[in-house]
Amino acid sequence: MNSTTFFLSCLLWHLIFIAGLHRKNLAYAAGGQWVVLQKSIGITAMHMQLLHNDRVVIYDRTDFGKSNISLPNGKCRNDPTDLALKVDCTAHSVEYDVLANSVRPLFIQTNTWCSSGSVAPDGHLIQTGGSNDGARKVRTFQPCGICDWVEIANGLLAPRWYATNQLLPDGRVIVIGGRSQFSYEFVPKSTTAVVSLPFLQQTNDPNQENNLYPFVHLNVDGNLFIYANNRAILFDYTKSVVVRTYPSFPGGDPRNYPSTGSSVLLPLNNLGQPTLEAEVLICGGAPRGSYAQANSGKFLPALNTCGRIKITDTLPSWTVEKMPLARIMGDMILLPNGDVLIINGAAAGVAGWELGRNAVQSPVLYRPNNALGSRFEVQNASSIPRVYHSSAVLLRDGRILVGGSDPHSTYRFTGVLYPTELRLEAFSPAYLGPEFSNLRPKIILPFSQIKVIYGQILVVRFSVPGALSKNGVAVTMVAPSFATHSFSMNQRLLVLGGSTTRLVSRSVYQTTVSLPKSGIIAPPGYYLLFVVHQNVPSVGIWVQIQ
Ligand SMILES: *[C@@H]1O[C@H](CO)[C@@H](O)[C@H](O)[C@H]1NC(C)=O
Ligand SMILES: *[C@@H]1O[C@H](CO)[C@@H](O)[C@H](O)[C@H]1NC(C)=O
Repeated sequence: MNSTTFFLSCLLWHLIFIAGLHRKNLAYAAGGQWVVLQKSIGITAMHMQLLHNDRVVIYDRTDFGKSNISLPNGKCRNDPTDLALKVDCTAHSVEYDVLANSVRPLFIQTNTWCSSGSVAPDGHLIQTGGSNDGARKVRTFQPCGICDWVEIANGLLAPRWYATNQLLPDGRVIVIGGRSQFSYEFVPKSTTAVVSLPFLQQTNDPNQENNLYPFVHLNVDGNLFIYANNRAILFDYTKSVVVRTYPSFPGGDPRNYPSTGSSVLLPLNNLGQPTLEAEVLICGGAPRGSYAQANSGKFLPALNTCGRIKITDTLPSWTVEKMPLARIMGDMILLPNGDVLIINGAAAGVAGWELGRNAVQSPVLYRPNNALGSRFEVQNASSIPRVYHSSAVLLRDGRILVGGSDPHSTYRFTGVLYPTELRLEAFSPAYLGPEFSNLRPKIILPFSQIKVIYGQILVVRFSVPGALSKNGVAVTMVAPSFATHSFSMNQRLLVLGGSTTRLVSRSVYQTTVSLPKSGIIAPPGYYLLFVVHQNVPSVGIWVQIQ
């Protein structure tokens, strides 16, 4: 081959390569990037919640012993009931300021270990339960920049450890289950006794439970989809009635703690239709019997399957899909463009002290709208294992904040397979890459955080540096979720219907969207609103719907 034919053949291959990329849709190039944001936040990110001041509240547990960050102003916690340290001058909660990339220690009084949370309609965090002296506590946190935790004694009717929360259409929070709690209740308290939920007893495997941190999603009909172990129901919490019993997950393996898989309500993208539909996706977990096996030193491979089900169907059935990587303790995060990111976790064993093996450091993308069989794509790996007690949340700029991992009953930094992880990291999905800057929309209107009402028509104005693909524009609303134990409570993404996009001035476009009509579709509170162009999201803006 002479140099001219070599050059021509290179050019040809180059053109074929470019054409191939275009066919695949540019925004879907594999990859993503990892960056360590903080070498130590002083605690392990067992629980995380983003608030509307772009700060993330993070906490672990008070009975871990001394953390690596001191309480503010030389304070100490004096707790005679603490099981590790009666006087502890270190913090077990911090506030991470995303924009400043800084950490502020916070003061929790009682044990928040394996607890749950939700954000109230006015934007403050409501944390519920925990262990030992914290099991019946409710704690609130106002996003004011300098505020700290406030504890409410006996805020719960029953002790709740490993429970799941869901924000309801009327702004209350329902708290479901927990160890040996086959019941639910509301915050603020609106019943005098807990309401029994026999489904949680029925799905409780003796000695291993497999029904802790049940997966709960608010369905578009106002009922709750509740999944525990290998089964699910549609539940009317107002009447305490099971409305529908779903077929059990094919294969019958458990998906909840300690066989921890994860679950998301897939993007709600038919809001304008008279009949709404909703689908749930559950991924990973452990084969039945894994917990007992792991306790005797045998770490079975995790499950590599996901199940997808249309929960609004009267005769629903599961479609089982195979992930490229088996995973237990993976977090599932809805990205602003409606894709699902599966991140963190391990390939063998179960959740619990020292029971996970073979950390899976590569996230996987799942594209719900692709054809069956071409939905998954493995992303670039982090160098940090994130196993038990790790978490992940979406940030306003489209990155995923990742922290935690501590499979030990104390902080342990040396001489163990997976040392306690204090580093905070961000994963930037491929859509944040510079190769997509021409597609990337920037929101111009609304100009900043706004209050909106149900059913409102909202004018959204944005710019795009390159050419606009009119059919490639979507406006989405994402509820920031409370992440712990591989499940993101209250996670929800709405694809808003609207008019077509029109040019306003050079590179500036306008679209009008209809906001959700009720709290059943979008419980009241703060959401991140994004403009997405060809799968590339803008930076979001906060909207408070009521
Ligand atoms: C991530 O993956 C992409 C595509 O596979 C690759 O080009 C890129 O170098 C990777 N980035 C990092 C930081 O590893
Ligand atoms: C945390 O503190 C302990 C001792 O107090 C120290 O050994 C360890 O290296 C620290 N870890 C990090 C990540 O800062």
